Amino acid sequence: MIDAIKRCEEALAKLLGRQYCILTGRGATALWMAYSLADETRPKILLPAMVCISPMFTILNAGRIPVFADVLENDATLDPKIVEKMLKNDAKIGAVLAVHLYGHPAAMEELALICAKYDVLLIEDLAQALGGIDAKKSLLGRIGNLSIVSFGHTKILDVGGGGAILTDDEQLALRIQELSQQLPDTSPHSDNLTLIYRKLFYPMWECGQIDSSFYQLFDLFPDLFHDLYCYKITKEQALRIEAALGHLKNEIAYRRSLGDVYLEELSSERTISFFQLTGLGAPWRFTFRVDASKRNDVLEGIREQGLDASKWYPCITDWTPSGRAQKIENFPVAQKLEQEVVNLWVSRDYSIPKVKKVVQTIKEIL
Ligand SMILES: Cc1ncc(COP(=O)(O)O)c(C=O)c1O
Repeated sequence: MIDAIKRCEEALAKLLGRQYCILTGRGATALWMAYSLADETRPKILLPAMVCISPMFTILNAGRIPVFADVLENDATLDPKIVEKMLKNDAKIGAVLAVHLYGHPAAMEELALICAKYDVLLIEDLAQALGGIDAKKSLLGRIGNLSIVSFGHTKILDVGGGGAILTDDEQLALRIQELSQQLPDTSPHSDNLTLIYRKLFYPMWECGQIDSSFYQLFDLFPDLFHDLYCYKITKEQALRIEAALGHLKNEIAYRRSLGDVYLEELSSERTISFFQLTGLGAPWRFTFRVDASKRNDVLEGIREQGLDASKWYPCITDWTPSGRAQKIENFPVAQKLEQEVVNLWVSRDYSIPKVKKVVQTIKEIL
């Protein structure tokens, strides 16, 4: 009888229209695998300047070097022109990580052409965009040489953890299978590590915001928290993921309906601007921009009401030695967006009245 993990891998491959799918303990493990498959003699991995930190930490865990490209102002995803320039000037870049940040679709077709031209692996990060669509109305996740998915905390299908890596390339799939067999189980220290991570992360981030030289403290993270990033899937996780896949369409529709309410209610606010997406991508959260001078008041005001808001994601180039060597002046868009972004919740614990309460709070502050 076919086991739960295999069955779930087949269901996810079918859903995203890919040939091969291998489940992993979390999305970060899938990224670690993807980086490990890139040409070792070209050890640099290019990623967006503005992103969640685990894609960057796992580059270091895979023994590679993160190098950053600035993002586009209209959607906060990789700027293909900058990617092309960097690939042209640096033969040591072996892979590009395109992230559909906030569920916004990255320019995958353009990036695929550029990566093919320079014979570089294109990795597509769907962690925040599962079930999202591109301009051709196809599901995101079909273009990267390798595409990765997450079923972890805050994701569109959050089943408490789990990840996957997908490809159409048989050789890559065989190598992924080999790597997958070497993965350990979850570390017995992972609860303690998670606790320590949470205690350190936010104060260190705050210190870095006061004086950016303190971002150097994060140089210790990839090693210290190594065991949190790479481990194998369990049968129980696979069963939860398989069940959740059946709810993906409903989940997207629910989130989109709340996103539409935020958009309509906030569109008259002059200090707010929206990313230009016209219904594309996936509604991971409702993300907008507000004048930097007002952003922290907005966040605090919403939280004071017992409601949720976040300022993810920072420009993380100063958080690692290779990024610091690139100089912060190379990332004007990521630096600007990190001061302006606000994310509002569209998950099942939110309803239209709760969304309207958030909107009301924002309007009062502005
Ligand atoms: C863009 C992005 N990629 C990858 C990951 C890693 O996923 P996971 O938490 O399942 O390891 C995350 C998680 O927060 C993410 O936001």
